[in-house]
Amino acid sequence: MKSDRIPPGSFGIPVLGETVQFVLEPNFVEKRYQKYGCIFKSHIFGRPTVIMVGPQAAEFVLSSHMDCFSWRQGWPNNFKVLLGESLFVMDGEEHRQKRRLIMPALHGAALAKYIGTMEEITRRYLQKWQEKLEFSWFDEFKQLTFDIASELLVGTKAGDDSARLSRLFDTLTKGLFAVNPLPLPLTRFGKAIAARNEILDHIAKVVRERQKNPAQDALSLLIQAKDEEGKSLGQKELIAQALLLLFAGHETTTSMLTWLCVELARHPEVMQRARTEQMQFAPDGAFTLEQLGQMVYLDRVLLEVERLHPSVGGGFRGVVKDFEFNGFHVPAGWQVLYAIPETHRLSGIFSQPERFDPDRFSPQRQEHKQHPFSLIGFGGGPRLCLGIAFAKMEMKIVAAHLLRGYQWEILPNQSLKPVRIPTSRPQDGLRVRFQSL
Ligand code: HEM
Repeated sequence: MKSDRIPPGSFGIPVLGETVQFVLEPNFVEKRYQKYGCIFKSHIFGRPTVIMVGPQAAEFVLSSHMDCFSWRQGWPNNFKVLLGESLFVMDGEEHRQKRRLIMPALHGAALAKYIGTMEEITRRYLQKWQEKLEFSWFDEFKQLTFDIASELLVGTKAGDDSARLSRLFDTLTKGLFAVNPLPLPLTRFGKAIAARNEILDHIAKVVRERQKNPAQDALSLLIQAKDEEGKSLGQKELIAQALLLLFAGHETTTSMLTWLCVELARHPEVMQRARTEQMQFAPDGAFTLEQLGQMVYLDRVLLEVERLHPSVGGGFRGVVKDFEFNGFHVPAGWQVLYAIPETHRLSGIFSQPERFDPDRFSPQRQEHKQHPFSLIGFGGGPRLCLGIAFAKMEMKIVAAHLLRGYQWEILPNQSLKPVRIPTSRPQDGLRVRFQSL
């Protein structure tokens, strides 16, 4: 029988709903999950919203009932304006077709060609950090991952252009969650639009260069990519997709690398095991994909960082068909947010969920395999993060170099409290003292 029960929860105050609390309260979802359970209502970014927690909820949204949901209608309007006509706002057949076109640039044989650039940029930063001795790692990782993303994804070598692009990106990102969406010159959102326009101009210039002289980067592969009917991405779309990759590809990786370094410093025994694993490989020389695949303990450590510190809080979707979940009815026109960090801390799935314990992913334990969609730091289902292989490879390369040759300690008098929006990070950015071993 059809249910007419709307999920429990509160719509908050008129117009704003609970948007301000959602953005500012670190435990917004957790508190309401404790009170109402795995589905509850709220009102965020101007729309009635249900928030869904847990693997069953994630499977429902990401896979089994994905036809009830739209990405295009899900992301707050700021995302659509700032990130343009890219994969993020596509649905159905259009999405499937474009995803297939972009996929080869971020998977398989293409990845092997990126190792050299990733290593070269990493080495440059290691050298710089050794000289600096003390610094805020979040800011440094942001530059490092941006240099990698801008060189491989939009063909811009580190230097003046990449530093300028990085600053523009900061401004753009701040606009994504701006509560006041007025596009005036002095509002956050207005500044974000101006920044986006400058980035688009830059990418357009590089696309024209790459069309004349293809290189060994993802942008060149995107330019050459053709679908089953021999169609390739148009100029405007290429630029929008490249902007999206640059956006999706560096803040998230920065977040996970920062938390990786926090947890390694907090857990010397994990650091030691990860170092010992690295010693099996030749100390110098470039990595191969095969070697990276053999770093199984590092894999576990990274899975545990993904679980405890997922970069992204969840994914928004627009409800395009009424649906029922757990005996509650949700009408079309609402939006859904599937929650990632809260799903990762359910004690029914992960033993002692607050503990940093990479061995929960050992072949004997495999805690995340008891229920599908228990570990969803990269989303899941047909819209699993497109950059997952790229990001994992990059993080492994950076981590392997750090483990092989360096040590660091967390400086006192700083807060490591997690700030979740726009991506998760320690409040004071992780200030460390850094040295070679
Ligand atoms: C640690 C790094 C990363 C994390 C944690 C991460 C996380 C995510 C998550 C959670 C989603 C799904 C969002 C949803 O369901 O609403 C997603 C989608 C996506 N990610 Fe990532 N991501 C990372 C790195 C990257 C990189 C490096 C790229 C590109 C080079 C990338 C490109 C994308 C794209 C294009 C999508 C949309 C896929 C689609 O709609 O088909 N991501 N990512």
